[in-house]
Amino acid sequence: MTEQEPIYRGKAKSIFRSENPDELIVKFRDDITAFDGAKKDELSSKGVYNAKVSAYLFRYLEENGVRSHFVRMEDERTMIVRPLEMIPVEVIVRNIAAGSLVRNYPIEEGTPLDPPVIVLDYKDDERHDPMINDEIIVALGFMTAEEIEAVKQTALKINDLLKGKVDAIGLDLVDFKLEFGRHGDEILLGDEISMDSMRLWDKQTHASMDKDVYRFDKGDVMTTYAEVAKRLAGEE
Ligand code: ATP
Ligand code: TYD
Repeated sequence: MTEQEPIYRGKAKSIFRSENPDELIVKFRDDITAFDGAKKDELSSKGVYNAKVSAYLFRYLEENGVRSHFVRMEDERTMIVRPLEMIPVEVIVRNIAAGSLVRNYPIEEGTPLDPPVIVLDYKDDERHDPMINDEIIVALGFMTAEEIEAVKQTALKINDLLKGKVDAIGLDLVDFKLEFGRHGDEILLGDEISMDSMRLWDKQTHASMDKDVYRFDKGDVMTTYAEVAKRLAGEE
């Protein structure tokens, strides 16, 4: 497995074929990027922390009835998953206004959003992931209206489950991004759930405990990632 060429090399993970046709090998690299790849670095162990948190959260979701691509961990940065035909839609759930919501709309950072707001983006780096809506998703043949509804309900259930976990470690779950894909006739949760894809704020100070530390040079990125991994998924 180790020396073969990846079948896909993304900005943070590499995907390898496995001997088992119903498994893929996902390697979480130490690369970190922001602003569509305009800012990039390699931070030692970053991939390990994200893999650890993702695996922990996929297991937790599975125990609570949310099916995902996760099969098992091969080593500390290598995850075995079900191969999905990815749906190019990012499903973002927001509990508190931040990021692009604040940049694009007249709402102050930190405003609570109750009920949570779901935003759908078309995943296409060249087009800078524009926002998409249900009708466009149906028109492009990505999902049926019923599938979109089911995915949104799953995203809200995941939100409730993740909020509980994140709350328990003294953080607020501000927002997060999910990706889904097809496996046979099922739609499963895929990709990762990590400090790269969630926005987490300290409950007291509102200090960022996620990739915003890297995006906006708010402190030591690896200390932050290590701290969240430790609080959430236990000792190294
Ligand atoms: P971005 O950083 O914008 O999400 P990327 O493609 O650079 O894009 P990576 O995380 O580096 O992101 O790459 C992982 C890729 O693997 C993504 O394109 C993701 O959609 C895809 N992927 C995730 N889970 C699966 C799966 N189970 N089967 C097939 N592809 C998957
Ligand atoms: P958002 O506020 O839309 O974008 P930005 O990161 O540019 O401020 O992001 C909402 C959440 O979704 C945030 O937790 C980061 C995550 N996300 C990703 O993981 N990948 C993406 O491509 C995007 C757009 C967001």
